[in-house]
This record gives sequence, C-alpha cells and structure tokens, in this order.
Amino acid sequence: MCGIVGYVGNRPAAPVLLDGLGALEYRGYDSAGVAVHGCQGRIVVHKAAGRVRDLQAGVPVALEEQQDPLAPDGLHVGIGHTRWATHGAPTDENAHPHVSADGRVAIVHNGVLDNAEALRAALEAEGVSFSSDTDSEVLAHLVARASGDSLEDRVLAALAQVTGTYGLAVLDLDAPDRLVVARNGSPIIIGVGEDEMHVASDVSALVRHTRRVVHLDDGELATVTADGFHTFTSLAATTGKRPIEVDWAYDDYELDGHDHFMIKEIREQPEAVRRCLSGRVDRRFATAHLGGMELDARDCRAVRRVKILGCGSAYYAGQFGAQFIEEVARIPADAEPASEFRYRNPVIEPDTLYVAVSQSGETYDTLAAVQEVKRKGGRVIGLVNVVGSTIARECQGGIYLHAGPEVAVASTKALTNMSVGFALLGVHLGRIRDLSAAQGERLLDGLERLPDQIEAVVANEEPVLAAARWLSKAPSMFFLGRVRGYAVAREGAQKLKEISYVHAEAYQTSELKHGPLALISPELPSIAVVPHDELLDRNVTALHEIAARSGPVLAITHEDVELGDLARSVVTVPRNEPELDPILLTVPLQLLAYHAALSLGHDIDKPRNLAKSVTVE
Ligand code: G6P
Repeated sequence: MCGIVGYVGNRPAAPVLLDGLGALEYRGYDSAGVAVHGCQGRIVVHKAAGRVRDLQAGVPVALEEQQDPLAPDGLHVGIGHTRWATHGAPTDENAHPHVSADGRVAIVHNGVLDNAEALRAALEAEGVSFSSDTDSEVLAHLVARASGDSLEDRVLAALAQVTGTYGLAVLDLDAPDRLVVARNGSPIIIGVGEDEMHVASDVSALVRHTRRVVHLDDGELATVTADGFHTFTSLAATTGKRPIEVDWAYDDYELDGHDHFMIKEIREQPEAVRRCLSGRVDRRFATAHLGGMELDARDCRAVRRVKILGCGSAYYAGQFGAQFIEEVARIPADAEPASEFRYRNPVIEPDTLYVAVSQSGETYDTLAAVQEVKRKGGRVIGLVNVVGSTIARECQGGIYLHAGPEVAVASTKALTNMSVGFALLGVHLGRIRDLSAAQGERLLDGLERLPDQIEAVVANEEPVLAAARWLSKAPSMFFLGRVRGYAVAREGAQKLKEISYVHAEAYQTSELKHGPLALISPELPSIAVVPHDELLDRNVTALHEIAARSGPVLAITHEDVELGDLARSVVTVPRNEPELDPILLTVPLQLLAYHAALSLGHDIDKPRNLAKSVTVE
C-alpha cells in the first residue's frame, strides 16, 4: 500500500529518501518518486512506474546534489512516495509526488479523497491543467492556490476543502526550511534525529535513522524542520506531542542470510512466541497476566459474549481465538471479517467484549470497525503487533503481540502470536470464571511447550518440500478441517492463494459430503488437517470418502495417527494440548505455501496485487 517518506537535514535528500522508499517496498506498490528543493530555485521531481531500484538507477546525478539557494545554508528538504494504484493506472504521470501548476508546491498523499472529482472540475474551470488521473493531485493545486501567510495556513485552507482520508507531506518553495505533514485516516510518523528530521508512513523507514518517533493522530498536522517539529490541530491549536521510543531495530529489516523474509519470519516463530509469553504466565494463580487490557476481574465477569474482528489472516487467527475462548472460558465467541462488520449496521451489545486483531494496526477496515464499535458505546480491545499503531491507540486496551517487525506480505510469526495472544486471553477469561486451576496449568504448560515444538516443525522441512513439489502442479485444491482444525484449513488456503496464486478453497471436513465431494477427483488434491482429538474417527471417514474417489491427500496430522494409504503424503507435528494444537498444525501449511510459491518462481515477499497493510477501503 502507498508509502510516504520525507527528510529535512544537512544530507543530500534524494539518497536518504530513496533509501527510505526501499524500506517501504515490502508494503506493496507499483510506482515510486521523490521531489527535492532544487538548485535552480525550483522543485525537482523524479518518478516512474516500476520498482524503487529502477528509480534509483535512473536518478539524475544533479538530483543527488540539489541544493536550494533559498534554503538556509547546507539544508536539504525532500519528500518521496511509493504508490499502490487506486485512482488511475500505475503510470509515470500518476506516480507521486505531484506538483502544482506553478511548480511551487509538491505533495505526496496516501488515502482517498472522496470529493476529488468535484474539486478537479472546479479547478479545471478556473484554468488549472492537471497532469495525472489521480485524486491526490488536487491537493498540490489547492495548497498552491490557497491564501495565507504561511505554508501551514495554506495547507489548513486546502485541507478544509477536501473530504476523505489522507496522510500528506507538502514541500513548498516559499517555505524552504520545512515540510508540513497532516494525517486523517492514513498514518504519518515523524522520526526525530540528530540535527535532522524524518517523516514516514511506516516506522520501518525510520528505524534506520532513529528510534524516537511521534505518531500523529487523525486531524493533526505538524511542521517539520531540521531542528524540531511542532504539532497542531486543524484549528491551529498546539498539541505538544512528545516522541516515544520504538524497540524495533534496523537489523530486523535485514534478510540476515535467509532467502526471503517469509522463511526468515517462519523460523523466527519460536523466539516470537517466547516474547509474547514473557511476563504473562502467572503460575501462582494458573492464569495469564495481561497488564494492558484495562479490564478488571469484575469487567471480565460481566462479559457475556466475545466478538473478534480482523481481516485476512488476522480474521482466521480470530476464528481460532473464538473457538479457544468459547471452549476454554465457556463464553459464546465468534469472529467476523471487520470489512463486513463495519458495513452491516451491527448491533453493539454493552456486555460483549469486542476484540480487534491486526498485525500492522493500520488495516483500514479493522480500524473502521473499531470506530463503529466505539461510536455505539461498545468496549473494544486490540491484539496488535505494531506498538503505537492507529488501531492500538484507538482501542481501549489490549495485548501487544511482540512478534517483532513482519516484512513479508504473508503473515506467519504475527499470525502465530495472534493465536498465542488469544490463548492467553482465553485462559485469563476462563480463570475468572469456571476454568479450574489444574486446567489453567495444563494450558499454560502447553503454551510454554510451543516454542520448542514449533522449532521441531520448522526443522522438519523435507516432507513439506516433497509434498509442495507435487501439489504445486495442481490448478486447484481443497483445504479441509473441522471445529478446531477449520481455522487452520482456512489460513492454509489463504497462504497458498496469497503467494503461489494457486486456487485453494477451505471447507469444513464435515461439509464435504454436502456438496464439494462432487469435485473430488485424481486432479483435485486435498490438504486435510487431522489432529489426534475426539474427531479423529470422523476425519478418517472423510479421508475414506476422498480415497474412494481417488482424490490425492496431504494429511497434516500427529505422529501417533495411522493413516495407511489414505494419504499420498503425511506431515506430522508434535502434540500439544488439543485446544492449542491448531497453532502447531498451521506451521507446516506456512512452509507448504512457501515451497509451492518457490517452486513456481514467484516473488514470495511481495506477491502480486497484495499489500502488507491495506490502509484504504
Ligand atoms: C492484507 C494482507 C493479509 C493480512 C491482512 C490483515 O489483506 O494481504 O495478509 O492478513 O491485510 O492485515 P493486518 O495488518 O490487519 O493483520
């Protein structure tokens, strides 16, 4: 999804900006560009459809040495952008930055302007000629034509005319020592350096320079100069934001000897789970200690229902969470895609605990669902990975996942930690109700066994690799699981679709005979999740039904399950506790998607058409 960078400092701006854009690549984009104050007293823009490295290769030498004669001595100022096409095709013209007709203002914009067409028509009627099809370009013209004594005044005047969402950075020849940035629904973060300042839409572009960051809130703006920043509201009232420290480091965004971020992040899971559990296992009371929940025991007892909201893999982790919470805490629970929930005028119940789950903390649909719950007086907590992200700040408390930065679009370690987070929440809610101390102990023991067991699964890559070789040749496949295994099947199908582009459909194993069985043939493989639990016999019966129609099967199962020739390939994982087994059963499916995509030669970390966090509708 679109990314923004900005720089004010003593280094030539273009290389710093291009380096920042490189850090944002993982989010998904189709074009990129930078704009800096140039030495002829004009704004110099370099932008193109395609990859950042192509843009970098074509940088005019002059751009790297640009220095605005109007700027204070030695100062360099610039903005950059990676674009993910929404309004207008991914062309050179539609790439950001966009410059005003008089060449004096350049902007980069994330988000969608709802009234762009009307504003464009009005500007064209006044004689302004547009050079792109984007909604964003209107902002460059509006700022340039606005009246006001300062750039800040003109940005405020321009923003007063637009409706919709924006993360915005503005460069202006008449204010050569600064950037003005603004946020409404699309993140803007300021990075505080030594005698230099950075701006980005994602912390990954900042940690290479500084760990001190300032998150703007919706409706907030900031002036950024080399020696500081000033935050204010749309009514020009000072908000006096202070920087916070982020604990992610530059190294976290390096491949570190791995071929792809996805496999690196799969292998990081044991450590990620240990971090998520750290300080949260309360042996004294056989419960989970969740300090950030902002709910006391009385609040937790009053919860009569749990509703989990997320998108994509986060939604499937939510399905695991709902199953776990209902089973362990005996509270009715379900998960729903946040993207659907927010549009169906949901009934918000005062005694329901709403839980938003998101790796990035920036997924717009999930954020909008949180806001809908809050607007109607509901109580919502977050299970979020990115500290200080929008959803984390919007929720009324929550559980940070501590998976560390996740760069690959396909979520692995964050997804696993979401499940661990839900398990902690389930034990916590259960122990306040009827879950016995012995049962609490059993589940905590299981959680603490997970890291070593995940390590064993990840080390056992060979059988998955062999299965991926024959499976990736199929044009379509089924993922089957039931009850605890259904979320596993759904997540397995999602992973495969996301990065290998092979069609995959998840079904409840129990539903097979009610329709999908008609499709079973030697050409349609099934990946069956077959845990050693009370439904084993039922699952084996389904495998017989598939075998009778010569459907090839890969079974993801436990070591002590004997399937004979019902499965063409078998991958086993160690047993944990039945409620926690889905977490381990998911890991081979991550490896399966990875190896299938690898054998098909795809760009694993940046799959086509997808973005790491979808910050628009
Ligand atoms: C996008 C990605 C999915 C991801 C979903 C939710 O759609 O392609 O892989 O699961 O966003 O992201 P979040 O950051 O909210 O967990």
